Amino acid sequence: MRKWWHGLAAAGALLAALAAALALTVAGLRPATLHTHGQPSSSAADSRRPPLRFGPGGVFKVALFVDLHYGEDAWTDWGPAQDAASDRVMAAVLDAENPDFVVYLGDLVTANNLPIPNASLYWDRAISASRSRGIPWATVFGNHDDMPFEWPPQWFSPDGVPPLRCPALPTSTPDSGCSFRGTPRTDLMAAETVANRQLSYSSSGPRELRPGVSNYVLQVLSRRRTRDDDHDPALLMYFLDSGGGSYTEVVSSAQVKWFQSQSQFLNPNGRIPELIFWHIPSTAYVMVGPKAKSEIRKPCVGSINKEEVAPQAAEWGMMDALAKRPSVKAVFVGHNHGLDWCCPYEELWLCFARHTGYGGYGDWPKGARIIQVTEDPFSAVSWIGMENGSRHSDVTLSS
Ligand SMILES: *[C@@H]1O[C@H](CO)[C@@H](O)[C@H](O)[C@H]1NC(C)=O
Ligand SMILES: *[C@@H]1O[C@H](CO)[C@@H](O)[C@H](O)[C@H]1NC(C)=O
Repeated sequence: MRKWWHGLAAAGALLAALAAALALTVAGLRPATLHTHGQPSSSAADSRRPPLRFGPGGVFKVALFVDLHYGEDAWTDWGPAQDAASDRVMAAVLDAENPDFVVYLGDLVTANNLPIPNASLYWDRAISASRSRGIPWATVFGNHDDMPFEWPPQWFSPDGVPPLRCPALPTSTPDSGCSFRGTPRTDLMAAETVANRQLSYSSSGPRELRPGVSNYVLQVLSRRRTRDDDHDPALLMYFLDSGGGSYTEVVSSAQVKWFQSQSQFLNPNGRIPELIFWHIPSTAYVMVGPKAKSEIRKPCVGSINKEEVAPQAAEWGMMDALAKRPSVKAVFVGHNHGLDWCCPYEELWLCFARHTGYGGYGDWPKGARIIQVTEDPFSAVSWIGMENGSRHSDVTLSS
């Protein structure tokens, strides 16, 4: 009897240690509400966040919002009008598609155009479309989110600098309120997660991946409830910081190693399908994509192909790591506002989302890429839903 008990205790301790290690980066695997019985625990910041789960029909639907570029030219009428229009795009897509989850795929704000010390205020506006509808979300960083303010050339004309408020910060010297240095990624993430403990599934990721911040994994559990209720993931979503702004536009070798160890640990036999999200296309997109401005031909699927792919600065092995895993079905990026195609690469798909915001360059109609995953039998399909409710570019990512 004693021996049996000791063995169990040792196994329990090992499991607890593993779970603790995992909880650092796997934001979806948490005891959540299961053991609190209505008494919210104050220890873990996000302990009240329920696990993500496939719906009763075995479907999990994700909307991708990218390149919202909130906060441009706030000193004009034009800038705030653009932001109001971006609010309307997200409202229209969410009301038409009713997704289970939203991924904000970077460039939520144009921080290099923000003459305020705190980009979190605009960041918060971007995520409020999901929050006001009670839809959970995750964010990753783009190249514009933590940029310092760049003084526009017109401000040096005879008209000079428009009337600006330069708020005094608590610890500021008299001048620092108007220096607009950009809000660090970690501050943006902290403001988001602290203020949205139930709906934000974003995470600052492991320190060893700095200066990259938005590196984390979310698990979506099966709709089938097992006896212990919580350990049957049917989809893994990996979020990576592809850099830009305060540092180089790149997915680092350290991120590749992190991805390999996470995927090996969470999904050793590749049973669980995996989707990958980051902001800036990798160089593989250049290889598989149609030539800029040419027709999009099968097997690629999409509706706009108006510019060259603007890829990351280097490739340090992420694409090889992904291509080696048949469980990885697709990568989703934004960054290029004039591209919305998906093309196959080895056994997976490389997809652009669709420019969602009225901010940023390009006047192509706005919309959002939708991803719909069915768990049993597994399928993953995607399409683009437009602001006016039309739908196009249907593609099957699971074949
Ligand atoms: C920045 O904005 C966030 C809200 O998005 C707020 O919680 C925080 O206090 C603000 N910080 C400053 C210095 O204004
Ligand atoms: C919706 O917008 C698209 C452009 O994205 C256009 O081609 C289509 O005709 C519009 N549909 C309706 C019903 O207005």
